[in-house]
Amino acid sequence: MLQEDTMTDALRSLAAELDELGSDAVERVPEIPDFRLTDVLGRGGMGTVYLAVQTSLGREVALKVMRSTGEAIPNEAQTVAQLHHPNIVHVYAAGTIGGQSWFAMELMRGKNASHGNFASVEDVAGLGVQIAEALAYAHRCGVVHRDVKPSNIFIDENGLAKLGDFGLANSLGEGGTRRYMAPELIASGRATETSDQYALGVTLQELAGSRVPRDHRQTCPDFSAICARATAQDPSRRYESMAAMLDDLRRLIARRPVAANPPSPLRRCRLFARRNPLAAAGILATTALLAALTASLAVGYVRTSRALAATEREAASAAQSLAKVVAGIDRTDSDKRGAEIAHALTAAESLAARFPGNAEIADSVDKLKAARDAHARFLERRGGAMRLQHRFRPIPRRGP
Ligand SMILES: Nc1ncnc2c1ncn2[C@@H]1O[C@H](COP(=O)(O)OP(=O)(O)OP(=O)(O)O)[C@@H](O)[C@H]1O
Ligand SMILES: [Mg+2]
Repeated sequence: MLQEDTMTDALRSLAAELDELGSDAVERVPEIPDFRLTDVLGRGGMGTVYLAVQTSLGREVALKVMRSTGEAIPNEAQTVAQLHHPNIVHVYAAGTIGGQSWFAMELMRGKNASHGNFASVEDVAGLGVQIAEALAYAHRCGVVHRDVKPSNIFIDENGLAKLGDFGLANSLGEGGTRRYMAPELIASGRATETSDQYALGVTLQELAGSRVPRDHRQTCPDFSAICARATAQDPSRRYESMAAMLDDLRRLIARRPVAANPPSPLRRCRLFARRNPLAAAGILATTALLAALTASLAVGYVRTSRALAATEREAASAAQSLAKVVAGIDRTDSDKRGAEIAHALTAAESLAARFPGNAEIADSVDKLKAARDAHARFLERRGGAMRLQHRFRPIPRRGP
């Protein structure tokens, strides 16, 4: 905390500084009950931000005094004061003094994002996630920021980002910074959730463009696609909500495919491999193994089917020859027939064992077996007749 006289010195030098600038609107440092203004933190388009001490609580705060005069504190300031989110700069108090609006807020000791350096596009996306979380929460609470831009985003030494000037630009003054304003906001003056999305898109684009080393920029088409969707000129082509933009930024950081840039199957695989290098290596090895296996099976199949075709041809010609043998068996000479049947059956059975699927050969085997059995019965019948003949042979008469 500064001593009283040091403080007065600081304010005097501020007044001198403003005089030097030749400003018409030389700032009158307001006297605000309970707040002791000690230094100037900076000036923006709509006012000056002071370092101040809230005497009743003995804490340092940032106190912004708006340049425009005559405005009452709107209800929205009260709404904003109800916002409790880790990525939103807290508003402690607000009021008007001598026709000037002011509000006291959490003092952010880190630098704002317009001075921040980001090592990569992913770092900018990480900041984007935090600010999108703040905005998605605010939108759920019915609050539109209206003035999202790098100088309203603060980053502490641990990388925690907070969105400041929350909602107050909307309520305590007109305007905003044109560069971050959506075309429909410029045209109508009405800020919406979608115009906040546009402003965040421009902010992220700008931070990646000017604060990320060149060689780390080009490599992220998904980041560009997210910013392009958020900053589409036609509001209906932007994300349907801040929550949807947040979701895509999270996907980008998790190296998942983003909705703004649907990936080809090949890119989908690459993203998977970047997320899970070990699993990807395993899958690659398994795929290679499967491919090799499939190839060898295919070769085997071709070989087998060729061999099968050859076997079938062989079997058909064997069946044909066998059928000729069966047809040529002698039917007249019964002694010769038995030998021929036996010979043909041996040949047929060995062919049937070699070509088990051939129906013609199997048929010949059946026929030959039937012929063998019939021949055996024939021989039996003939043998019986001869025995009978022998038994009833006439007994030779003895001589007289
Ligand atoms: N809560 C805060 N804690 C610390 N510094 C702050 C805080 N709010 C603003 N500042 C600093 O004060 C300076 C002026 O902020 P201010 O918000 O007035 O200007 P701006 O954001 O550049 O423009 P605009 O007036 O359009 O918001 C900036 O450098 C900013 O970093
Ligand atoms: Mg600001």
